[in-house]
Amino acid sequence: MDVWPTMGNQPYRGFSMNRFCVVFLFLSLRFACGDVSYSVAEEMERGSAIGNIVKDLGLGIATLSSRKARIDTDRNDKRYCDINLSTGSLIVTDRIDREGLCGKKASCVLIEELVLENPLELHRVSIHVEDINDNSPQFSEDVILLEVTESAVKGARFVLTEAHDADIGTNSVQRYTLQNNEHFTLNVDSVGSGRKQYDLVLVKELDREQEREIKLVLTALDGGSPQRSGTAIIHITVLDANDNAPVFSQAVYKSCIFLSYFSVHGADHPCCSIRFQDQVAPVLVF
Ligand SMILES: *[C@@H]1O[C@H](CO)[C@@H](O)[C@H](O)[C@H]1NC(C)=O
Repeated sequence: MDVWPTMGNQPYRGFSMNRFCVVFLFLSLRFACGDVSYSVAEEMERGSAIGNIVKDLGLGIATLSSRKARIDTDRNDKRYCDINLSTGSLIVTDRIDREGLCGKKASCVLIEELVLENPLELHRVSIHVEDINDNSPQFSEDVILLEVTESAVKGARFVLTEAHDADIGTNSVQRYTLQNNEHFTLNVDSVGSGRKQYDLVLVKELDREQEREIKLVLTALDGGSPQRSGTAIIHITVLDANDNAPVFSQAVYKSCIFLSYFSVHGADHPCCSIRFQDQVAPVLVF
């Protein structure tokens, strides 16, 4: 396209030329102007300064008012910050709740724009919202019900439900503790992709005659500062094992089954007996 060298000599091409210039100017404004990036902790008080955008972009304070500086959001989102025209500071104007904005995402960025007029100038402002430890670990139930038979052997494991924490990274659940007791300990196993499984492990056998139920406090702790925790009660019901065998009045019961084969052949005699062995299971003896 040889538009540029012939511009002055061919005025009839001026209209498309002007349009080209406008688009070019707009694009260059959009992408050539400096972007700024800030980090801010979530839940900062309204009015807190995020940074001085005038200094960071090398603008003059006076231009802010004369060029009607304002902050716009990129999308139809809420505006979380504004610019103080007398200082050039970017300030928090609304509650920034990282969990509400980004959930469990590792990175949470708000995109806003600083707009200046005459000529139009846009600067992209990226605000990285950092997590603070504002949520505690929570179990889905306050009481975890478990039934364990008294015949359970040492080493028997019972998977525990995990606690959840809306925060991320070290501000989320890091470890668990179990109330001191003689029957159970906690065991942690990695089950891949950074996940862990927590088991209650039997270390001393249970005796229903001594204890019918056991209540233990399970605590989930996060790694934040200050640290937060959540608790649940593990309610263990000790079930009766079928270890007291029924007692029969006779050691051996004899019974007769007359099979048609023997009947046909006139062999009318007992061909079998049912014997209760060890007083538990009847066994057919031929
Ligand atoms: C801008 O900042 C100055 C100095 O901190 C303060 O006195 C003024 O109230 C602020 N203006 C607005 C609109 O917040």
